[in-house]
Amino acid sequence: MRTHLVLTLLPVVSAVSAFQLPFKLPFFNQPSVQQPLQPTNTRPRIAIIGAGSGRGRPIRERVVHRRACVHHCGHFVRVLTSISSSTGSTVVFPHDNTSLPAIELGASIFVKANKNMWRAVDEFNLTRRDFRDDKGMGIWDGEKLLFTVNLIPPYLASGGWWSWWDNAKALLRYGFQSPRRTQAFVDKMLAQFLHLYSPEAPKWDNITHLSSTLEWTELVSQSTSDYLRSEGVSDKFISELVEASTRVNYGQNADEIHALEGACSLAPTGASAVQGGNFQVFEQFLKRSQANVYLNTTVKSISPTTSNRWVLDSDRGSETYTAVILAAPYHSTKIQVPVDVSSRIPTQPYVHLHVTLLTTTQPSIPPQSFSLPASTKIPAMLLTTFEGARNGGKEPEFNSMSYHGLISEGEWVVKIFSKKRMSNKWLSKMFDGKVGWVLRKEWDAYPVLPPTSSFPEVKLAPGLYYVNSFEPFISTMETETLASRNVVDMLLKDSFESGICGPAGTPLNDTDKEDYVFGWDC
Ligand SMILES: *[C@@H]1O[C@H](CO)[C@@H](O)[C@H](O)[C@H]1NC(C)=O
Ligand SMILES: *[C@@H]1O[C@H](CO)[C@@H](O)[C@H](O)[C@H]1NC(C)=O
Ligand SMILES: *[C@@H]1O[C@H](CO)[C@@H](O)[C@H](O)[C@H]1NC(C)=O
Ligand SMILES: *[C@@H]1O[C@H](CO)[C@@H](O)[C@H](O)[C@H]1NC(C)=O
Ligand SMILES: *[C@@H]1O[C@H](CO)[C@@H](O)[C@H](O)[C@H]1NC(C)=O
Repeated sequence: MRTHLVLTLLPVVSAVSAFQLPFKLPFFNQPSVQQPLQPTNTRPRIAIIGAGSGRGRPIRERVVHRRACVHHCGHFVRVLTSISSSTGSTVVFPHDNTSLPAIELGASIFVKANKNMWRAVDEFNLTRRDFRDDKGMGIWDGEKLLFTVNLIPPYLASGGWWSWWDNAKALLRYGFQSPRRTQAFVDKMLAQFLHLYSPEAPKWDNITHLSSTLEWTELVSQSTSDYLRSEGVSDKFISELVEASTRVNYGQNADEIHALEGACSLAPTGASAVQGGNFQVFEQFLKRSQANVYLNTTVKSISPTTSNRWVLDSDRGSETYTAVILAAPYHSTKIQVPVDVSSRIPTQPYVHLHVTLLTTTQPSIPPQSFSLPASTKIPAMLLTTFEGARNGGKEPEFNSMSYHGLISEGEWVVKIFSKKRMSNKWLSKMFDGKVGWVLRKEWDAYPVLPPTSSFPEVKLAPGLYYVNSFEPFISTMETETLASRNVVDMLLKDSFESGICGPAGTPLNDTDKEDYVFGWDC
């Protein structure tokens, strides 16, 4: 299938002296001085190519072009996008009935430390919805229910592991030190993460350097298991609670995924999502950028001209741009680029994820579905560990399976993440034949994130920038907005001697503001 891409065009005025970006509150302010309108062919123009939804990519990519453009553009913007990505429907309705609660298919939660997402929700007057799901959690290893508790782990709620210390069962199984050390590990990562929003936020053209600036080199070069073990966290805690988290959040095991992403998956989520779907945030970014949007466009190639520009060949024809931001995973775009560019982009494998949503009249999974004694109470949220399989047992059929509340009297909705398609037969067995509506989606949901010390280049060539270079480092909705901000800042500096916060490159005011966010408050 052809990949339809999001193409965002940002024409800006040509004369550098006349160049007045709406640096202050770029999301809302128009440039105060109307620029003289120049013929299109002499205006510098910037194209942003983001991933379309042909393959149902989750919203991660879609953040990119909207954010990038938004930081930039005042009224000189045109956007090309694919229809489905601009409507961005990553929510679905049980029974396809829009009167029922919307359910997010993919990445669905963000935290207060995700300052761009948080701020956008506030600025755009959207409503946050807190997840409150305290019906308990269990860890399934494919054959046995290893542990159940009437709490959910902090990485799926708010607060910290201390809430677990009130729970005798959890304390008995995992002790006091492992949760405490894990908490310290996550807190330290988060404290560093917050620098990315400060007035002195680092800017990077080399992610290896950024990693070192943030003191994350050790994290990113080791697996989550190895790192936590070296911090004195017990094997049992790692293979059960930590692995349950890396599996539910990234579809990867704790001994496969690097410790920076492991820490992200363990961060307390405070579990917020936007009422009606997170996609609205990106829709608003796009709308408020006042960019022109071109739908359903396939970009075929990007090639340099002799005059330091770039020609985009798309099904809209060929057009020349001052600069191009590639905001899609290059290898899945099938875009032709010069060899000296493509050779700089390492292949990035993805975890292929199957999402199965269904409704059932079973209030919980019957224990006989797992061949467990009839007295067993199966918790509403089942997470998994690979530990059984590691020791020669059976691999869990799914990464996670959880009840997501009632949709009507006596009918619940359940979400399953798995590596393979969940057959009707399996579903029927699991819910004792009581399966109503079923919806399946699959996509390359997460990058495969092994320990590493090298990253793709942010700037692929003069005037050609790659947002997704950030993905092997950290991959979340939020960090894509950070990567976009960085690329736009760099592009503005390279082309116009001014960053997103003005020519000085540093914010001029509001830096004392509580909850200051670089890019929003400068
Ligand atoms: C949709 O859901 C609402 C609320 O439960 C219900 O009243 C309505 O009958 C449903 N519509 C259809 C077409 O099933
Ligand atoms: C924000 O939302 C509130 C409640 O929905 C509404 O009353 C208000 O008019 C909205 N404000 C703006 C600026 O859209
Ligand atoms: C997008 O374009 C393709 C062909 O280029 C067409 O088949 C498809 O219907 C279009 N989709 C939308 C939503 O316009
Ligand atoms: C980034 O910096 C590291 C260490 O200085 C260097 O080895 C690497 O080649 C640089 N990467 C790029 C893409 O320039
Ligand atoms: C920011 O600084 C500019 C000039 O330095 C000033 O005109 C403006 O009022 C300041 N804005 C705020 C919100 O303090």
